Amino acid sequence: MNHLLQLRPLMTNEELLSEITRLRLERHAVILAHNYQRPEVQAIADYVGDSLGLSRQAAATDADVIVFAGVHFMAETAAILNPDKTVLLPDTRAGCSLADTITAQGVRAWREQHPDGLVVVYVNTTADVKAEADYCVTSGNAVQVVERLPRDVPILFAPDRFLAAHVARLTGRDLHVWEGACHVHEGILPAHVDAARAAHPDAELLIHPECGCSSHVLASLPDTDLHSTEGMITRARASRAEKFVVVTELGMVHRLEREVPGKTFVPVNRTACCEYMKMITLENVYEALRDLTTRVTVTPEVAARAMIPIERMLQIG
Ligand code: 13P
Ligand code: SF4
Repeated sequence: MNHLLQLRPLMTNEELLSEITRLRLERHAVILAHNYQRPEVQAIADYVGDSLGLSRQAAATDADVIVFAGVHFMAETAAILNPDKTVLLPDTRAGCSLADTITAQGVRAWREQHPDGLVVVYVNTTADVKAEADYCVTSGNAVQVVERLPRDVPILFAPDRFLAAHVARLTGRDLHVWEGACHVHEGILPAHVDAARAAHPDAELLIHPECGCSSHVLASLPDTDLHSTEGMITRARASRAEKFVVVTELGMVHRLEREVPGKTFVPVNRTACCEYMKMITLENVYEALRDLTTRVTVTPEVAARAMIPIERMLQIG
């Protein structure tokens, strides 16, 4: 038998786009995309944004199907907020190296040592970890959430040590820090920032708080603000600067160019690219809509516990 005959002919981009348009209507689906997604995936999304904005959109949608163009913890958060909807992740390998640095057991072990303590976890965590937490935060509201916590109890901030350092600096809190990091942001080194600054002395820096280089930058530029990915758009619009060095994952440059036309955005390092985010493609979005795969679910018991810190996150910032 000639196996080649069994191969499905590849669809053109136009065919994919027209099928996605047809299926999203037929399924009453919404496509939510993170700022680090491929440009062509951002282009077909109903909403593109940061983790906080995406969670808010997931909480508010009346669609029957949510296709999450992002990574697994984001789809899980959407599934917790929408137990009756179908939440799809087009490629289940789309994980997160930062979320992988912490387990529910790790949080429980800290609690045993600090029975009066509070646990704040970054949204980049699994549902199991969120279920052990008191508060969930994103880079967009971590400072505001921690500012409101009582001063007389130990606070675990997990799992990103660079975001924790940023929050500790701005709130003056003495946090217990989980020593996790994202491989993409940690890989943006002070030398990369120095080289970009030397090449573009007129540019303003837009730095994400997950970046390992932030303390190096703050040592010489103490007034530098750090921004969530959505915060970078607000800042780029408001700033008088015409040029920016973008110190985060590469996909953000596309979003900035689209949202803030007329200004120039230079990636700090073209290799700062999240392979998990880039696993989502037009092809697998189409297949997800066509086959309603792969569904992301969270057990009702875990979802009920994880919902408490997630709702607190949605209320602030
Ligand atoms: P935000 O888009 O919420 O700033 O988060 C960045 C990130 O790394 C998501 O995985
Ligand atoms: Fe996770 Fe880092 Fe990728 Fe964001 S960029 S999804 S934190 S691995």
